[in-house]
Amino acid sequence: MRLTRKLTFALAGAVLLVLGINAAIRINLELPVYETDVRRDGRLLGRAIGGAASLVWERVGPDEALALVADANQRQSNVNIRWVWLDAPPGSDDAPEVAVERLRPDEGAETTTVRWRPPGSPHDALYTYAAVKIPGERRGALELRETLVAEEAFVRRSILQSTLVTAVLVLLCTAIALGLGAVLVGAPVKKLVAQAQRIGAGDLSARLDLPQRDEIGELAREMNAMASRLATARAEIERETDARLAAVEQLRHADRLTTVGKLAAGIAHEVGTPLNVISGFAQLIHDEYPPGTPAHEHAAVVSSQTQRVATIIRELLDFARLRPPRTASEDLTLIARQVAALLQPLAQKRQLTLTVDAPPDGLRCEVDASQLQQVLTNLAINAVQVSPLGATVAIGIDTRQARPPADHGGASGRWACLTVSDAGPGIPPENLPRIFEPFFTTKEPGEGTGLGLSVAYGIVKEHGGWIEVDSQPGSGTRFSVFLPPDPRMEPDA
Ligand SMILES: Nc1ncnc2c1ncn2[C@@H]1O[C@H](COP(=O)(O)OP(=O)(O)O)[C@@H](O)[C@H]1O
Ligand SMILES: [Mg+2]
Repeated sequence: MRLTRKLTFALAGAVLLVLGINAAIRINLELPVYETDVRRDGRLLGRAIGGAASLVWERVGPDEALALVADANQRQSNVNIRWVWLDAPPGSDDAPEVAVERLRPDEGAETTTVRWRPPGSPHDALYTYAAVKIPGERRGALELRETLVAEEAFVRRSILQSTLVTAVLVLLCTAIALGLGAVLVGAPVKKLVAQAQRIGAGDLSARLDLPQRDEIGELAREMNAMASRLATARAEIERETDARLAAVEQLRHADRLTTVGKLAAGIAHEVGTPLNVISGFAQLIHDEYPPGTPAHEHAAVVSSQTQRVATIIRELLDFARLRPPRTASEDLTLIARQVAALLQPLAQKRQLTLTVDAPPDGLRCEVDASQLQQVLTNLAINAVQVSPLGATVAIGIDTRQARPPADHGGASGRWACLTVSDAGPGIPPENLPRIFEPFFTTKEPGEGTGLGLSVAYGIVKEHGGWIEVDSQPGSGTRFSVFLPPDPRMEPDA
């Protein structure tokens, strides 16, 4: 509102100035015109009456001439006409009111006009002296006096009129400027300020609706665009922060895997040798005693249990996997079919169908075939284990446009993708972040070691890929293994 007030003051000041100057110019231009008129009237009147008086003086006599002057004075209401002697002593009744020196005494019927304010009078007056030709020595003249009261009245009227017009205009301008200012500037600016405060406070969702097509409207639209851009930028930052946090979490996970891997490898080596000894002696006892004896049966139990421990140790060594993958260009379809064939007996036991859905021409990738087989086996065994009787476990192979996760990095591109889907119970959300942890298992002791997924995770990571899980409790699980595609692979049209 302060801006409006300043503009209003400026406008009113300008109006005041212009109208004031206009009034002054008008008064100054018109006053001389008025005075010139009065002078001319005085001169004409002086010459006319002077001429007549001169004639009468010569033909009839001085008394009649003076009577004519007195009569003319009677007839003129606004002009005072009287006979004066230019040589009369100043101050006497028939001497000119204006000092004779100021009259520039002229010859013949010449006239002189002087502006003078008689002492004691409130107004200036115009004195016109018309010399009158008379016989004899003395020089007579007519004195015509017209008070300039009308002129002053005109000035007063002009000033009053100008003041009135100026006052009305200033009031009008002020009212219009204040009104328009409030509507066009005050209210929208208030909204802009409120919007700026909202944005400052972090609320980027509010939008300003100022339909006006002026600078303020433009500012409002720019402000809206700015809020949108800020919101986008903020969302981007939040997304990046989330990705970074996820990356840190993944790194921590990977770090844990390595540590556990080293520990596991160490323990496996230490336990391996005594386990072989135990297994060997159990075998000896088992062979030494005839079947049916307790020693024979007990030795069989020791033997089978050491077998289990040996399996776990092999898995641990797999997990610790000290050798880097020996990669070659392999057909993923072939690997998938081998795994399916391997798992067929297990699947049959639960009346499951194992399907492999692959592109007809196969899909080649640079992988270590045995390691990738292990990945696929671990995923498929899990799927088989959770599937309800008679369900289907599907292995799929294709290429896909995908963006690697934050910890992996890299731009979106085409990847080879192996999927294993089941119709099992799904993974509860609280377990999802933990399933790749070594030794995390929800299975009964003896049924799961919790190493399958962490082994798969490590292998795929070493191949330059990653694993994604889609799982909703109650609607099955799908594991997707992304691998770098063979560079010779046909680019997708
Ligand atoms: N297809 C699946 N459906 C449901 N849960 C799964 C699936 N695959 C893995 N899981 C969960 O992840 C855990 C870890 O799996 P894994 O590392 O293979 O160990 P394990 O199979 O020995 O338990 C499993 O115990 C299970 O809870
Ligand atoms: Mg498993």
